[in-house]
Amino acid sequence: MTSASPCEDTRAGASLTAEPVLRVRDLQAHVAGQQVVEHVDLDVAPVGVTALLGRNGVGKTSTIKAILGLVGRSGTVELDGTDLVPLPTHLVVRRGVGYVPEDREVFAGLTVRDNLRLAERRGSTHHYDLVYDLFPELHQRGGQAAGTLSGGQQQMVSLARALLNDNQVLLVDEPTKGLAPRLVAEVSRVLARAAQVAPVLLVEQNLQVVRDLAQHAVVLTDGRSVHHGPAADLLADDELTQRLLGVHADTGDQGRPADPEAPA
Ligand SMILES: Nc1ncnc2c1ncn2[C@@H]1O[C@H](COP(=O)(O)OP(=O)(O)O)[C@@H](O)[C@H]1O
Ligand SMILES: [Mg+2]
Repeated sequence: MTSASPCEDTRAGASLTAEPVLRVRDLQAHVAGQQVVEHVDLDVAPVGVTALLGRNGVGKTSTIKAILGLVGRSGTVELDGTDLVPLPTHLVVRRGVGYVPEDREVFAGLTVRDNLRLAERRGSTHHYDLVYDLFPELHQRGGQAAGTLSGGQQQMVSLARALLNDNQVLLVDEPTKGLAPRLVAEVSRVLARAAQVAPVLLVEQNLQVVRDLAQHAVVLTDGRSVHHGPAADLLADDELTQRLLGVHADTGDQGRPADPEAPA
């Protein structure tokens, strides 16, 4: 196990960051009959961005889904002192856990406006002013079927759906995946703004984005959290990033080449 001060202790029950908004201990989860999350401890800091990192297939998405209850899980996931593990997903979400899934998952046949309307959470204020301020294009394209948008625009719809509601914490899974560099910068700008509204747990392969946004980092290997610490310290340690993430810190992307065919 590797760790960086001040978060050296990854035992269940250990305090990883001061008063986290989300406190995950000994999370285990099964996907398709296989245990893909074996032992994850992580804290999401109460402000800013906590990055969840690791090579492809180590269980980052499954960890996010386990936090939400989208896959069978055990362990504890405390939000504001309440354990979410006994709750079904809709009640987890209603407590203010926003989710931006990997691969966007917009309703392709519905308009942008209806995608947003469907995302309106009961009991929450709906921040259309924030959403249209961040994404003026979505206002202009309100009547357009979401499936006809570019990949970057669909990512904006996906982010907008989560930002529409009051969130205690936002779980954002690989928002820059497959996007052209200009859109990576745009998504990064939006996430920085989002993190001012609610703390973010961000799965991200682009290390430049991690460097720009994240204060804290948690690294998974084979379904286990093996490193917790300041993101800057991890990214400054070439040997560590090479060993844990399989890339040199200054190459930017964890072995995921930019997609030249990605829609702008
Ligand atoms: N629907 C599925 N069916 C079978 N195996 C899956 C499924 N989803 C994920 N897995 C497996 O679970 C492991 C973790 O996957 P995932 O959480 O998606 O990793 P990451 O997000 O870190 O790339 C991988 O070995 C993957 O192949
Ligand atoms: Mg994933």
